[in-house]
Amino acid sequence: MRKYASKNDGKELALQEEAMKKASAYVADLARKLDRQPLCCVTTFGCQMNARDSEKLLGILSRIGYAPTDKEEEADFVVYNTCTVRDHANQRVYGRLGFLNSIKRRKPHLKIALCGCMMQEETVIEKIKKSYRFVDLIFGTHNLFKFAELLVTMFENQEMIIDIWQETDQIVETLPVSRKYAYKSGINIMFGCNNFCSYCIVPYVRGRERSRDPREILQEIERLVTDGVVEVMLLGQNVNSYGRNLDEPITFAQLLREVEQIEGLKRIRFMTSHPKDLSDELIDVMKHSGKICRHLHLPVQAGSDRILQAMNRHYTKKEYLSLVEKIKAAMPDIAITTDIIVGFPGETLADVEETIDVVRQVQYDNAFTFLYSRRTGTPAAAMEEQVPAETAREGFDRLLKVVQETAKERAALLQGKVMEALVEEVNEQDASLMTGRLSNNMLVHFPASQELIGQFVDVSLDTCHGFYYTGHVVEPCSLKEAVQ
Ligand code: 5AD
Ligand code: SF4
Repeated sequence: MRKYASKNDGKELALQEEAMKKASAYVADLARKLDRQPLCCVTTFGCQMNARDSEKLLGILSRIGYAPTDKEEEADFVVYNTCTVRDHANQRVYGRLGFLNSIKRRKPHLKIALCGCMMQEETVIEKIKKSYRFVDLIFGTHNLFKFAELLVTMFENQEMIIDIWQETDQIVETLPVSRKYAYKSGINIMFGCNNFCSYCIVPYVRGRERSRDPREILQEIERLVTDGVVEVMLLGQNVNSYGRNLDEPITFAQLLREVEQIEGLKRIRFMTSHPKDLSDELIDVMKHSGKICRHLHLPVQAGSDRILQAMNRHYTKKEYLSLVEKIKAAMPDIAITTDIIVGFPGETLADVEETIDVVRQVQYDNAFTFLYSRRTGTPAAAMEEQVPAETAREGFDRLLKVVQETAKERAALLQGKVMEALVEEVNEQDASLMTGRLSNNMLVHFPASQELIGQFVDVSLDTCHGFYYTGHVVEPCSLKEAVQ
């Protein structure tokens, strides 16, 4: 058995530090030419893992002298951290590349880099080489930790730099990171996926499952807490199988027990749970925890046994429903959310009715519904009986209606309750309101001062607006602390 600890961290870190020094000189040179600090923009497509990777990219770009901006048209360096789970995300990248090209014509010093899951696909690289010659740097998911070195190569060469690895056993997690939020952070606990759900491209672009050493995860969280973080999100494609491939195997539930002990940490979340690997031990740890949030994202994908089997999900509708029952019996106040695909090869409207039945029985607090997207190289892409777009759309619309109804019913149950919220940010639509997040992941908006960002308040949930609440603060955290 291989141990995937970051034993090369020290050596690799020194290499990257050296590269960052070199890259800084190029950025300083650019700053002199522009007579201002160069700006960088990292745009993230896709999931929480990508969002975390983008924080790493920004950490390095900040270290070498770029200042961050959200506006691509202002930037001197644009990075697209791409996703390829569904074709829609790929098309968005191509569309936006066209726009970047028009900017680069006016601003020839603009550098453009592409990375992330989409870059692990050969056909994508071929297309970019042929039709998007103006891209400066392309790298993949396995060599993100080499970003600083790749930047140096990019600055020292005129032609397009392409560096894609097929796999890696290295885990380097000690490079600079620019966190988007001061008070909460994602943490990678594992990489890759071994499940090979038949529709999913992730195992091909993110590689085999590798778990991080628990000691390093705990140290990273401790450092984050010292730095002001009160909420962490443990990230992995299938966190429930965490630790199985370590030299000293440990379960995800055991890891959570350890994380719980970290003083100063207030909330723990995790994502994503595969139903087939969710253990009784995990339910027990969640039930007795004062820090693990009352929210579980438990993708069901489909409700028909025939489709679940063709998807290679390793559970039946009945098994999924009894798992949910067990979870709800242990934690009646838990919010359950899910992912659902409609239009998988061979799926009929009668199959979709099975999915709708699951939604009705589980009463999800929220469900992300997706139209099946055919991903080249996956087993499902080669299946006969691809579903016509109109049938898939019809099933999708039927499902969405029920998802929205049940989510509304669930939300309405909280009316009038007082619950603890972590104050996250100023409301995007109304600057007089702050947005807070409840343990069950629901958002609530209420009048409060910006100074409360990153703090906990008790909020009365006054008015339900379907998927969120407006309310008022009952007891600010300073009072709470005083009372305790
Ligand atoms: N088509 C549509 N949705 C997909 N997902 C993964 N692969 C596909 C695909 N080929 C969805 C699944 C998964 C979520 C992250 O994306 O529901 O849980
Ligand atoms: Fe894809 Fe299935 Fe792995 Fe999730 S568990 S990343 S859906 S293969």
